Amino acid sequence: MQTQRLLSDETGFDHACTILQNGGLVAFPTETVYGLGADARNDHAVARIFEAKSRPRFNPLIVHVADIATAKRFVIWNDTADRLAAAFWPGPLTLVLPLAPDGGLSPLVTAELPTLAIRVPEHPVARTLLKRFGGPVAAPSANPSGRISPTTAGHVADGLSGRIDAILDGGACDVGVESTILGLWDVPILLRQGGLPQEAIEAALGAAVATHQSGDPLTAPGQMTSHYAPGAHIRLNATTLGAGEILLGFGKVDNATLNLSPSGDLTEAAANLFHFLHRLDAENPETIAVSPIPNHGLGRAINDRLARAAAPRH
Ligand code: TXA
Ligand code: MG
Repeated sequence: MQTQRLLSDETGFDHACTILQNGGLVAFPTETVYGLGADARNDHAVARIFEAKSRPRFNPLIVHVADIATAKRFVIWNDTADRLAAAFWPGPLTLVLPLAPDGGLSPLVTAELPTLAIRVPEHPVARTLLKRFGGPVAAPSANPSGRISPTTAGHVADGLSGRIDAILDGGACDVGVESTILGLWDVPILLRQGGLPQEAIEAALGAAVATHQSGDPLTAPGQMTSHYAPGAHIRLNATTLGAGEILLGFGKVDNATLNLSPSGDLTEAAANLFHFLHRLDAENPETIAVSPIPNHGLGRAINDRLARAAAPRH
C-alpha cells in the first residue's frame, strides 16, 4: 500500500474524510501526539488499526469526537465529566466512562470492556477533520505498538509507511506527550499521567485524585511496563556520563547531545521528549543517559514515559 502524504488544506481534508468514510486509516495530528484514525463504527476499519500497529486486540482505543454533545452519544455522562469537560475540553484529557448501550461503536474499540475512553482534541487540524467527518474516530498513537509515539508526520511515516492510507501533516505536536487518562468511577482514578497535569485536575475538582498503582486490577490495559521503547538502553537520573553513553539533558548541564529544556521548563521538555528520543535513537548509541527531571506538573508524564522506556524489554 502506498501511504499518501496530505497537506492540511481543503484538498487534504477532503481526501482524509473520504478515506475515513471508506473504512481507511488516516494518521492526523492532535496537540499531544499523532493519532492513527479510523471510523469507530466500522469493524473492518478498526481491525485494520490493530493490524497496522501490530497492537494486541485486548488493548482498547480512545475515541475522538468534535465536541461534548457528540461525546455524550457514546458514554453515560455524569456531573464530574461535565465539570472536567467544561474546564479542559478541547484538550489533552481522556475520560473513561461507562459505554452507552446504543452508541453503535465497533466492539473492537473497547476490546469488549464496559467502558469507553473518549476525548475532544484541541489541535485545529484534528478539530477540522472531526467536524467534517462528523462521526467518532478511534485513534491510538500512530506508532507501531511498543515504540515511541510520533510527534511529527515524519515520525509517523518512519513507523507506519506502507501500512496506512494517508498521513495528514499538521507540523509538530505542541504538547508532545499523550493525553492524561482519568477513569470516572465512584472516585476519579488517574490511569495515565499525560499532557494535562494531575495538579490541574485536582484544582478543578477541589480534591486529590487517586493514581493507578501498577498491579491494581483497575488498569488501562495498554500500560504495560515496557512501552515507548527506543532501540537504545535508557539510564535515568544521570548526573555523570559513562562510556558509550550520550546525554539527553534537562536544565543547566554540560555534555548534553540534546537538551530537553536548557532553562528547565517542563512544558518545553514535554514537547521535545519524543522528538529528541527519536533523534538520539537514530544515532544508534548503546545507551541514552537522561538528566533528572522534577516530578511535578508535566514532569510526572515525562518521568512516566522515561521509566517505561528504561524498563527491561519483554
Ligand atoms: O494523546 C493521546 O491520548 C493519543 C492521541 C492520538 O489521542 N492517543 C493515545 O492512544 O495515546 P493509545 O492507544 O496509544 O493509548 C490509549 C491508552 C491505552 O493505554 C489503552 O489501554 C487505554 O488508553 N484505554 C483505552 N480505552 C480504555 C478503557 N476503556 N479503560 C481503560 N483504559 C483504556
Ligand atoms: Mg500509544
